[in-house]
Amino acid sequence: MDLTREEEAIFNGEQGEGAQKAMELVVALGKIYGAEDLIDITSAHLSGASYKTIGDGGLKYLEDMVKGGARVSVTSTLNPVGMDRERWKEMHITPEFAEKQLRIIDLYGRMGIKTSCSCTPYMGDNVPTLGDHIAWAESSALSFANSYIGARTNREGGPGALAAAILGKTANYGLHLDENRRPTVVIDADIDGSLFSHSMLGQAVGMAIGSGIPYFKGIDPQVEDVKTMAAAMAASGSMAMFHVEGVTPEAGNYDTGDLEVIHIGEAELKAAYDKLNTTDDIQLIALGCPHLTVKEMKDIAAFLKGKKKRNKDVEIWFCTSTSVRDQCPDEVRIMEEFGPVLADTCMVVSPIEGTFQRTGTNSAKAGNYLPTLCSQKAMCRDIAWLMEVVL
Ligand code: F3S
Repeated sequence: MDLTREEEAIFNGEQGEGAQKAMELVVALGKIYGAEDLIDITSAHLSGASYKTIGDGGLKYLEDMVKGGARVSVTSTLNPVGMDRERWKEMHITPEFAEKQLRIIDLYGRMGIKTSCSCTPYMGDNVPTLGDHIAWAESSALSFANSYIGARTNREGGPGALAAAILGKTANYGLHLDENRRPTVVIDADIDGSLFSHSMLGQAVGMAIGSGIPYFKGIDPQVEDVKTMAAAMAASGSMAMFHVEGVTPEAGNYDTGDLEVIHIGEAELKAAYDKLNTTDDIQLIALGCPHLTVKEMKDIAAFLKGKKKRNKDVEIWFCTSTSVRDQCPDEVRIMEEFGPVLADTCMVVSPIEGTFQRTGTNSAKAGNYLPTLCSQKAMCRDIAWLMEVVL
């Protein structure tokens, strides 16, 4: 790889151990993926924030990075953590877990990372623009950034994104390059247009093609629909980018005439739904994967207004960011008649398996991960249907 003189100096440890470790990792990744050089980034978004997912090994790694003087050099945000910082007791979190989780947040903060802890940083804390090179982990967020914003990132892992954040650079390969952002298949979609149908569409496409860059025709998604599609395709497949005709900024750059066309309609949506539904009896309803937006908070509050929670055996969690929660005091009041509005955490990265075995969600991404990462049987339905369980 071609490194500038300044990059060589960092590689040789002239700017401290933290920067050296970061450069070693970015260069190693670049060599694996055939990058010719490094590229400047405008922001990073880091995963690996929950004590549940990184454990004591991750905590030690972060401690070593802080001791080595590591500090980020670009706007950097952090993914959800394993608990709401203040309301962790309502999530059945133990004091031992809470202590280590707070330590992890503190360590990230000491490196200069914004500890807003949301998987929707593009809603306010970290908003790239068209053409920006960025280094984002969090599969749903990076797919949203590539697709809806037209920023450029590969599917970074937590350590790779942290290293890039420290350097302000990442290896220049994959989706940073024009030629790798071309669509690979056309999806002719036939859905009812609801939020849930977009989630099932993403699930069905992931099941159908696994990887590549789909180009959607026949849909007109709103921001929340794109958010849930991005999450679903990143979980059911490994997609890091997609185009939507007439909607996403780079869709118009391509002629799709020669591409294979795959139809996704009733049968494919039913297969997606069947895969994600493994129970019809739930103990927890968890909404907000990815984190609820202001619009979703308003929609849920409008649906719940004037209703009563009759089934007290089923808990409800609403997961969002602190910033969205703060913007919606009236909605929070209505929603909290049903369950806590939790900030900066989610049902997947929280250790829910210590308390629950069966969880309902409206998110295909959570529907994929609840069984594998949280030992849950899952119910994946739209919000109105899920709420009927408790009304
Ligand atoms: Fe976000 Fe957790 Fe879902 S991090 S995308 S709410 S699994």
